[in-house]
Amino acid sequence: MKFTAATLAVLAAASTAAAKPLLDQLSNLDPAQLAQLGQQYANKGQELAACASAGTQLSCHASYDIPPTSAGSCCFNGALVSGGKQSGLILSTSFWTTNAPDPANNGPKDSTTIHGLWPDYCDGTYPQFCSSISGIPEYTGEQIEAVMQKYDPALYAYYQTYFKDLDGDSADFLSHEYNKHGTCYTTMRSQCQPQLPWISQADFAVLNYFRQIAHKFQERPTYNILQSAGITPSSSQNYTLVQVQQALKNAHGATPFVGCNKKGEMNEFWYFWNVRGQVNFGLYEAVESTTKSTCPQSLKYLPKP
Ligand SMILES: *[C@@H]1O[C@H](CO)[C@@H](O)[C@H](O)[C@H]1NC(C)=O
Repeated sequence: MKFTAATLAVLAAASTAAAKPLLDQLSNLDPAQLAQLGQQYANKGQELAACASAGTQLSCHASYDIPPTSAGSCCFNGALVSGGKQSGLILSTSFWTTNAPDPANNGPKDSTTIHGLWPDYCDGTYPQFCSSISGIPEYTGEQIEAVMQKYDPALYAYYQTYFKDLDGDSADFLSHEYNKHGTCYTTMRSQCQPQLPWISQADFAVLNYFRQIAHKFQERPTYNILQSAGITPSSSQNYTLVQVQQALKNAHGATPFVGCNKKGEMNEFWYFWNVRGQVNFGLYEAVESTTKSTCPQSLKYLPKP
């Protein structure tokens, strides 16, 4: 933001005479300066109103255009470039890994592990590595871990347990998820984060993105959902894809994507959503998967070794 003479006058007055009542300070401004200050507050008010209004719109289904240059795009996951496709189909994704070289990297035996929270275009195709067009800075894994450790140690501990890379390099996997997917949301841009004295706007986006990933993961505890439907890991018994999809649909409200490897072993789950408001704080609505399952009709759900 550009500082106007009026703002600077107020700031200067405030810093040199903090005890002096604000009205006294304002009375020192000439009419032109006062008018300018009033206009600034009017603009700020309009920005807030535009955001509040855009925040009521469901992603992929907005009833009016919310271009990336508008204030509303801070409260609506839309297009990153003017006239571009909107990335408002959000996928919370997890793994069921049974074949990590070091079994510790399969994660807990009674839980899936976190993959990420992805912004797809509304048709199910997706943007990736958007830093150069969104302006959202990329982070290294070490930087992301430092943000978690500094501002939310419990979140960091949670990731130690539930965020597993097949080869054990979870810092690298963290930066992959952030740089590939986290940089592609209009609502993750730094200028859309609050200005707070204790954290930078970019770090605020990172912190709350990884909080939201964990939150969406906890909201759909796939292992428990399947267990409640009598579907538990087995090295001998098969399950049908329809059985699995029905159990997950009952819990989610829409059919998620169920993924299998080439041997017909179930290994991942993607829950699809649209959202009103920012990706990190918005209200999510479950929607059907846009991706066909890669599992055979009769599949294996293997125990973790
Ligand atoms: C169990 O699932 C696997 C993987 O799809 C398949 O190869 C196998 O034939 C199935 N077994 C039975 C008894 O259906």
